[in-house]
Amino acid sequence: MNDIKPEKKPGKSSAKKPDKKPLAKNSAERTLVLLKPGVLQRRIAGEVLGRFEKKGLKIIALKMLTMDRAMTEKHYAEHRGKDFYGKLIEYTLSGPVIALVLSGKEAVGLVRRLSGLTDLHESQPGTIRGDFAASTRLNIVHASDSSESAGREIALFFKTDEICEWEDGNSGWF
Ligand code: CMP
Repeated sequence: MNDIKPEKKPGKSSAKKPDKKPLAKNSAERTLVLLKPGVLQRRIAGEVLGRFEKKGLKIIALKMLTMDRAMTEKHYAEHRGKDFYGKLIEYTLSGPVIALVLSGKEAVGLVRRLSGLTDLHESQPGTIRGDFAASTRLNIVHASDSSESAGREIALFFKTDEICEWEDGNSGWF
């Protein structure tokens, strides 16, 4: 009797995909992230982007740019007048940044948690700032603090046609 089992067809995984419906399109939130100039200098861009990707967030827009003064001042308008404002602007202008839009369920809060707290002394190990930042000003990433700020910040960095929504075949895993 022949008890040899038929070979599995290539490309078919034995892992059963979780029985979760993909995110309905309108339940995804968008948020803006900036990888600040020190990230490229320190060659950690891939590692920082990987933190967001591994959590299941979708990159739907990404570009590298050197911000000009007008754009930087607009982006950080709420901090004008604070004692760190001048140095923050100079640091942001000191080299290229990587700007990206992430999409996912409750993306604004999730990205803020992954990023960690702004204050160097409060950012927890395991977060991006907790693991990589050695200064509050040079704190690796900027992340929108509300969905309203996200809308404004995304519009400052990206034109509508630079945002690429894509069908997420993996959403059931996250
Ligand atoms: P970000 O999330 O980009 O938003 C404002 C930025 O200002 C913040 O990250 C820090 O880079 C910087 N910042 C905020 N508070 C301080 C501070 N107390 N001292 C120096 N820089 C600060």
